[in-house]
Amino acid sequence: MPWTRKHFLTIEDLSVAEIEQVLTTAGAFRRILDRRVKKVPALRGKTIVNLFLEPSTRTRISFEMAAKLLSAEVISFDADKSSTTKGETLKDTALNIQALHADMIVLRHSASGSPRYLSERLGIPVVNAGDGAHEHPTQAMLDVFTMRQHLGTVKGKKIVILGDILFSRVARSDIHALTKLGANVTIVGPSTLVPHWFEPLGVTVSHNLREALADADVVMLLRIQHERQASGLFPSLGEYTSMFGLNQARAAWIKPDAIIMHPGPINRGVEIDSALADSGRSVILQQVTNGIAVRMAVLYLCAGGQPEHVAPVE
Ligand code: CP
Repeated sequence: MPWTRKHFLTIEDLSVAEIEQVLTTAGAFRRILDRRVKKVPALRGKTIVNLFLEPSTRTRISFEMAAKLLSAEVISFDADKSSTTKGETLKDTALNIQALHADMIVLRHSASGSPRYLSERLGIPVVNAGDGAHEHPTQAMLDVFTMRQHLGTVKGKKIVILGDILFSRVARSDIHALTKLGANVTIVGPSTLVPHWFEPLGVTVSHNLREALADADVVMLLRIQHERQASGLFPSLGEYTSMFGLNQARAAWIKPDAIIMHPGPINRGVEIDSALADSGRSVILQQVTNGIAVRMAVLYLCAGGQPEHVAPVE
């Protein structure tokens, strides 16, 4: 089946076959990343604009790395020095970037649905790099990619997502990807941040950390999304940590071979104990590296590439 999508907006939209195409393509690019010469000519002559209107470290740099490794020209938009500070709208900003002959826009924005909004108004592909509390689809792909490296498959595995689910775009995209691929997903945290109305997405909702962690194959931690939530959803960060922070004592409740993940940025000493974040059980930095390969795959496919045409690795 050929890849036919022009835009990469959500995991919810994707079929299992499309998720597999992204992961297969990312696998080929991940092997290329281990070569001495990592650069491939796939997107030579294309210009990609990283339109990031919210802060980012990992996503922004890895999209930039991915574009450069595919031989594209890449321009990273500096929001603070742009005409958005003079009131220019997202639509006008994007239309002007298109008029400047960009071939693709990678968008991070605080408004849920903004990538789809642009995709309906532009002639060039739009890639979602995180929209509000809605979705972060490339993060989900790199999370699944990393889980498969360690577990072989996610089908039938117990994946626990712990923390601020309510305001997390990563949680939504991970839930869509993992449930489509047959994983058993449990979400856990305070009831104000982990409401029961997530159950129709096919997850188990828990407010009991010890019960939730039992038999987990993966524990995915999320930070508190202060930028998106009103205060008062839990008494204090200290209380959150004492109830739901993953520390060495609680890590003993998890199977010894379970992996600990986090999309970043981590808040050491809040949702995760610092030593645990740096321990051999943590695959957090592997997630970051895999993000380059996943983003290479997404840029390549949205530019019209096909999974089977990725150069074979010698
Ligand atoms: N995981 C993630 O989106 O990190 P950044 O906000 O640093 O891009």
